[in-house]
Amino acid sequence: MIAAIIAAAGSGERFGAPIPKALIHLGDKTLLAHAISNLAPVADQIVVTAPAGYESQIKELVGEEITVITGGSTRSESVRLGLAAVDKDAEFVLVHDAARALASTALAQSVIDALRAGDVAVIPALPEVDTVKVVDATGYVVSTPERSTLRKVQTPQGFSYSVLTAAHATPQDATDDAVLVANAGHKVRIIAGEESALKITTPSDLSTAMTFIGNAQTFRTGVGVDAHAFGAGRELWLAGLQWPGEVGVDGHSDGDVAAHAICDALFAATGTGDLGANFGTSRPEYAGASGSTLLQETLNIVTAAGYTISNVTVQIIGNRPRIGSRRAEAIAAISTALGGVPVSILATTTDGMGLTGEGKGIAAIATALVTK
Ligand code: CTP
Ligand code: MG
Repeated sequence: MIAAIIAAAGSGERFGAPIPKALIHLGDKTLLAHAISNLAPVADQIVVTAPAGYESQIKELVGEEITVITGGSTRSESVRLGLAAVDKDAEFVLVHDAARALASTALAQSVIDALRAGDVAVIPALPEVDTVKVVDATGYVVSTPERSTLRKVQTPQGFSYSVLTAAHATPQDATDDAVLVANAGHKVRIIAGEESALKITTPSDLSTAMTFIGNAQTFRTGVGVDAHAFGAGRELWLAGLQWPGEVGVDGHSDGDVAAHAICDALFAATGTGDLGANFGTSRPEYAGASGSTLLQETLNIVTAAGYTISNVTVQIIGNRPRIGSRRAEAIAAISTALGGVPVSILATTTDGMGLTGEGKGIAAIATALVTK
């Protein structure tokens, strides 16, 4: 029979999440759940090492058929404890990192095939692409190993049960199990590893892993434009602010061209229609709504469509008002209405040309970047 130990007891310090790394989601499943579903087809018994305090949560996650034990303070100790829970009838043991969530069933099968062919220790590995230096504690290079002889090793690593238990008989710390077995005098066979079996250590590794499961973040952008003519006797609302002493613009709403342009940029980026479609006659409750209210409702619409706003920019085009002195205030107003996203506000005149240059009104052009 074949047993598998999945080391999942680390805290994931370098990842920096408030929960253990094995419980972080990659797509629709935790790293640990991925690792289990990839090994389950080839392993008769699976032992998971859990971080202290998370045993019951992990038991619930993995189901009855999997043995969950409390891990140790180092990876080697966790594996040693896991080994003690492995069925004594095991012929081979796979030792795997939950952090290598996407190592495939086929990879595990190749490890087992090489064990069946007679090797007592088999590890997957990829060629090293970087030149690697051995350095001393004072920051100087000691030597440069020939790159073609170097391999980056992965898991699952496979061992004959008796060889692995003997290697772990005395507690010692190492970053993988193959070194313990090699130190005990056994030959360790290298087989071809997989790019997708990368060890997820940092958030950027998680993004890389997302691309392997076809869940890469998609980015979309949109542009929005609005213009309103000045209208005597109206107060001016622009970029979520009221501008005392400035001439306002005509229109049923407050005529906030910056807010309207941003709404349209967001609708464009997310394919959710436009201002008229979302706030027109079909939704009379928005007739005359302020720019900030429309931005808030636009945020709700794009969020409901599954998008997150990365940033928005807007350029206000007109002779008046002068934006500069209230730029920070305007950025804060729009950002607040959009749930705190980064906002840039720019302004320009058009050198006396066109309707805004002639002082007939104000226009704005906005862009939005969203992710799904
Ligand atoms: N592991 C373990 N017991 C430990 C430490 C690590 O079972 N005491 C497991 C981790 O859960 C991980 C695998 O060993 O699946 C490889 O370790 P690593 O990628 O270093 O994970 P962490 O130790 O959790 O991360 P960090 O070193 O950043 O804290
Ligand atoms: Mg670690």
